[in-house]
Amino acid sequence: MKQTEQWTGRLGFILAAAGSAIGLGAIWKFPYVAGTSGGGAFFLLFLLFTIVIGLPLLLAEFTIGRSTQKEAISAYKTIAPGSLWHWIGRLGVGTSFILLSFYSVVGGWILIYLYRAVSGQLMGQPYDALFGAVISDPASAVSAQFLFMLITAWVVARGVQNGIESANKYMMPALFILFLVLMVRSLTLDGAMEGVKFFLWPDFSKLNAEAILYAMGQSFFSLSVGVSVMVTYSSYLAKNENLVRSAGSIVGLNLLVSLFAGLAIFPAVFSLGVEPKAGPGLLFIVLPSVFEQIPFGGVFLLVFLALFLFATLTSAFSLLEIIVASLSKGNEEKRKRLSWVIGLLIFAAGIPSALSYGPLADVHIFGKSIFDAADYLVSNILLPLGALLIAVFVPMKMKREVLQSELQVSSTWGRSLFLLWLFLLRFAAPIAIVVVFVHMLGVF
Ligand code: PFF
Repeated sequence: MKQTEQWTGRLGFILAAAGSAIGLGAIWKFPYVAGTSGGGAFFLLFLLFTIVIGLPLLLAEFTIGRSTQKEAISAYKTIAPGSLWHWIGRLGVGTSFILLSFYSVVGGWILIYLYRAVSGQLMGQPYDALFGAVISDPASAVSAQFLFMLITAWVVARGVQNGIESANKYMMPALFILFLVLMVRSLTLDGAMEGVKFFLWPDFSKLNAEAILYAMGQSFFSLSVGVSVMVTYSSYLAKNENLVRSAGSIVGLNLLVSLFAGLAIFPAVFSLGVEPKAGPGLLFIVLPSVFEQIPFGGVFLLVFLALFLFATLTSAFSLLEIIVASLSKGNEEKRKRLSWVIGLLIFAAGIPSALSYGPLADVHIFGKSIFDAADYLVSNILLPLGALLIAVFVPMKMKREVLQSELQVSSTWGRSLFLLWLFLLRFAAPIAIVVVFVHMLGVF
């Protein structure tokens, strides 16, 4: 069945796709993973993976979605009927389910912080103790996660276009401006340069196989590729919009937010004597301390949390959307019901992650907490696997004419870039992904 949803234009699409990409990945996860995985060298690798593999993959997902105008599973069925390739879409749906189950836990933490900021129980606290208390209290962690999923299901039930598009227009630029303010304050703290050096100066002696895998996983996670979310979103896009320009803007914006987040956090980390390896709490501990050093910091923090919540929600919408769209296939009634049912199931599946810093703190899977294990499974195994399959699928199964017309290749220059893109998909991406996996397993 043909999709009934449509974006109102290129801007609507870019905002929604950038909204999916920019979220916890760039703002919360990137700084703490960079902190635990070696700083500058990690950043450089992340940059490399994003441009050489992430960007070509994003374009690959766009061509699949827009050429078929179908959601994640049907799109693959349309291109390669009667084959098993549509399992890429099913893998994406499954991955989104697990991803959203722990993503919503962090969404819940933001809600709790927001509530505290509004009720005046946030500023002036010992922030590391506060973070510990917030994540370990089972009742508030689970109810906040529930609320986060409720909002997500409500918006997705109303439909992508009405729900997602309109608000994005104002929230994203506002987030950029606030990050800029934060960055300036953080960079002017005493001893800030140590942090800049840690974050931007590549010290390759700190790199190991695991850090390389994390850099790759992070680049996929923060661009939302490998899950076919971008297949689904681009299926709502009109034929005459330029995919290459859209992909370029999304990658650019996403890298910029990661850079801003790093520059807002690491100078403060060093200036305030916080451990860069603090893990998932890094942002929640450091940012309030920076805001404290700004006049009207409490108000700024409140605004920041609201925007941060918004960025997280727009990513969550895309994750629920891909599942609901692939199960409802354009049926409006089904979409409504499924949004609620799946939203509830994801909430239930995420409860162990929400409790993994409290009552379930002693449960470990391969030496990791439940939350970390779910994240590891998604970011470092399922996303690279999905990415690998998409990289193989597009050059092998899609017709060159279709690809060229989707990417509007016309000039000689365009043709060279097109060939470079195919080369990156066909060779660079699969080889890099397989090599990083094998290296990780300790084979060499
Ligand atoms: N890109 C989102 C973030 O960085 O927060 C997370 C995400 C959303 C990953 C959607 C994958 C996805 F399909």
